[in-house]
Amino acid sequence: MNNDQLRALGFFDARIPRYTSYPPATVFSHSFGAPFQSDCITSLDPAEPVSVYVHIPFCERLCWFCACRTQGTKTLQSVENYIDTVIDELKMIAGLLPEGVTMGRLHWGGGTPTILPPAAIARLAAAIYAAFPKAEDFEFSVEIDPTMVDQPKIDALAAASMSRASIGIQDFAEDVQKAIGREQSFAATKACVDMLRKAGIHSLNTDLVYGLPHQTLDKISASIDNVIALDPDRVALFGYAHVPHMSKRQRLIDVDTLPGDEARFALSELATRRFVEAGLSPIGIDHFAKPQDTLAIAERTGHLRRNFQGYTVDTCETLIGIGASSISQFKEGFMQNASATSAYTQRIRSGTLAGFRGHRHSADDLLRKRVVESIMCYFRLDLSALRQEFGSLADTLAADHRAVAERFGSAVDWRSEVLSIPSNGRQLARLVANMYDHSTVASGQYSKAS
Ligand SMILES: C[S@@+](CC[C@H](N)C(=O)[O-])C[C@H]1O[C@@H](n2cnc3c(N)ncnc32)[C@H](O)[C@@H]1O
Ligand code: SF4
Repeated sequence: MNNDQLRALGFFDARIPRYTSYPPATVFSHSFGAPFQSDCITSLDPAEPVSVYVHIPFCERLCWFCACRTQGTKTLQSVENYIDTVIDELKMIAGLLPEGVTMGRLHWGGGTPTILPPAAIARLAAAIYAAFPKAEDFEFSVEIDPTMVDQPKIDALAAASMSRASIGIQDFAEDVQKAIGREQSFAATKACVDMLRKAGIHSLNTDLVYGLPHQTLDKISASIDNVIALDPDRVALFGYAHVPHMSKRQRLIDVDTLPGDEARFALSELATRRFVEAGLSPIGIDHFAKPQDTLAIAERTGHLRRNFQGYTVDTCETLIGIGASSISQFKEGFMQNASATSAYTQRIRSGTLAGFRGHRHSADDLLRKRVVESIMCYFRLDLSALRQEFGSLADTLAADHRAVAERFGSAVDWRSEVLSIPSNGRQLARLVANMYDHSTVASGQYSKAS
């Protein structure tokens, strides 16, 4: 699909969610808090393992481009105090869990989990395993900043059962790195990868970002050469989300140095082509994986899922978020912990669960959630499968299907009750998913769809 066609469909102007959840977190309401969280936890089914996400909202360096919920710190005292609070939260939740609930997946994200010294890594892991015994086929993944890690930390993570790691790269070009306030040499990144492989990590992800200041086709291509040399099992290729109203540090980025719409799109197209030529399978809108990696296998066998961490092989229906600002996903709905570390700490210290805003799913939400996930993972929607799962409720989407057909015309394909987005129009997935989004979203808050 060429730029004119994409422009005519509103691709370059769209500001819409990334649909890691439906409905998006922007519609969460304060009507749902600790009592709802407590009800969801106590009614968990012990036969179904849960996933656990632990948020570490601290970084030693604060990269200007970053939109993650994190805060800078030069001392470890605040980090250690935070771990104490997280351990208290874990104990509180363990007290509510029905007997026999096990943990299938554990993910530490941030911020920078590797800001934790080895002893804190061991202390936190022990508290998590005391609250949530490991299920069979348990997996533990950690987000790692290559400039904020050393052998003792990796040894501590490996001793705590880490099996997967995700490392932040973004771009290797020096002027791009300077402009985003994040300097990181290839040598430091390679040393980190080598330590992780030596520690037995069997699945390694790297994060790259397109649309950064001063990025050009040549520079991103050279960065991709370096990424390929690291031989990652998975690659995440995110479009730079410039949202300075949400992430104030992004005000340090000179918007005049950002690539324009078409240049940005060309960067994503080139990067996609390069990764596919390198033998990685494209997964959803922004991931790539070696064909033998579990993410690619899940994609091929129809088991790919999307949750707050992006594309995943995680099939657990429940995700319990621990720590400031983390989001839990229950069958009944979503729950987000207090965002600021101080507010989070205050709640836990006063003996209250940290959930402070959330959403209870209606039957219509669950239907649309399935539709959005199918489009974001597989670029298709099978109406007879929907009817099988949701019965006549699936027919309430008729007006949305008509609207998609009208807006996208031949850019999408409707055949035998299956909507599919052809491979040359996959960039449109967020736009098509957005047509089924009936939550009350104010578009100004989101990042570019391109
Ligand atoms: C928690 S951060 C990375 C972990 C670790 N702290 C590091 O810096 O290596 C997760 C990832 O989110 C992505 N990210 C952060 N801010 C972004 C933005 N504004 N637009 C697009 N991607 C972003 C980056 O690729 C980043 O590696
Ligand atoms: S990219 Fe990583 S290190 Fe940089 S501010 Fe974001 S979370 Fe912290």
